[in-house]
Amino acid sequence: MTAAATEGSLDFRFDSPELKKSPWALLNRLREEDPVHYVEQMDCWLVTRYDDVYELFNDPRVTGDRRVWKYYQRPKEGSLFRWVDDYGLMALDRKTQAMQRRLIGGGLTPRGVSTIDQKIKEVVDHFAKPLHGRTGIVDLMGEFTTPIPVVVVGHITGVAAPGVDDRRFSQLAQEVIRGFFNYVDEEVRERADENYVQLSAWVRETVEARKREPKDDLISYLLTAKDGDFQLDEESIVAQVSAMLAAGTETTTSGGTLCITTLLDHPETLERVRANRSLVPQAVLECLRFAFGGLGGTQRYALDDFEYHGRKIQKGQALMLSGGGANRDPSVYDDPDTFDIDRDNSGILVFGRGQHYCLGANLAKAELGAIMDAALDFLPPGAHVVKELIETESLGTFERNKSCPVDFGDGR
Ligand code: HEM
Repeated sequence: MTAAATEGSLDFRFDSPELKKSPWALLNRLREEDPVHYVEQMDCWLVTRYDDVYELFNDPRVTGDRRVWKYYQRPKEGSLFRWVDDYGLMALDRKTQAMQRRLIGGGLTPRGVSTIDQKIKEVVDHFAKPLHGRTGIVDLMGEFTTPIPVVVVGHITGVAAPGVDDRRFSQLAQEVIRGFFNYVDEEVRERADENYVQLSAWVRETVEARKREPKDDLISYLLTAKDGDFQLDEESIVAQVSAMLAAGTETTTSGGTLCITTLLDHPETLERVRANRSLVPQAVLECLRFAFGGLGGTQRYALDDFEYHGRKIQKGQALMLSGGGANRDPSVYDDPDTFDIDRDNSGILVFGRGQHYCLGANLAKAELGAIMDAALDFLPPGAHVVKELIETESLGTFERNKSCPVDFGDGR
């Protein structure tokens, strides 16, 4: 924690390295002393209590539409970001958004793509195979949890069907995804834009191919699916599928990495789950509650001035719904700082709530379960994360881990 935050004042820098490592003490103070806290550095309100996060996900006084934000800058005409801001699920009126959700959500069930579980298994097995019997330091993020979600979304949508250049596709998608993060450098967004031109050409080619010859994938499904008379046009399919790459990959990579590292940090639980795989789904949820989301989280923007817990929120200001704040709120979770896979996590807010509840939540849970299951097969006893070797990359105000070095031991 920053010096100032420990000494009484709640002034802190959002990007301080100490807070990134351990935001929990500060979050406890914020929840108790100032649950809707003004962060001067970003001119936004940090909301840390579970009940408030729960309410604000669906509160009519706020929206997820970024165009309402007082610092909003319109992305370049023709870019994916411009399309998502103007026509993505956050921008649409409630009725159109609900129709689009039904179509896209339907495509992500066995009705749309009948072989989702099989596709996940194939991809996870493909990346897990070379990790069996390995020794020394292995970067599980680079070799395992980063490629899996991109390739899974690629296979499910049909954009990167088995056999195409997965590596090239992953690289393009990763660059595009970075452009979606808030508070990134202009240079990152420009690179994302350039890569999107190539990615969308790729998606468009797939759409053309599926028109001629449909397959068991989301693009083929969306080309014919209808909600009443409503049907997605081809431009929307290209953009929605590209946007899905952003929504469903970085989140799942980080969730998968946290599932593995949290179990490695709790070896007794790891061995319990290793011996009884029916515990995997509940272990995944507890890893997400315990470790996913630190100080920050999803954003909402005030549609008008309003008062909230005595705070005067101004039109256009952002409210940041703290993931770590909600996940470790003691009024909802007994002894929240204890990792306990036997607790009831049914109310977890990691996938949001209500109108914008994550469309890929079931897919993500299945992927994370498969990732954990496969990791339990290849992680040798005693494997541990080598924290000093974790590499990070800066994307402007925001910094992310880009490696997860795990010591697999010497094989003896
Ligand atoms: C661990 C993995 C994931 C996490 C933690 C996660 C989290 C979330 C959250 C919190 C929201 C709500 C955002 C808001 O209300 O502002 C959301 C929305 C969404 N997610 Fe996920 N997600 C994950 C994986 C996925 C996957 C795999 C897909 C699909 C391939 C996906 C597709 C979407 C879409 C399309 C939305 C927008 C829904 C709407 O606006 O109606 N997500 N996700």
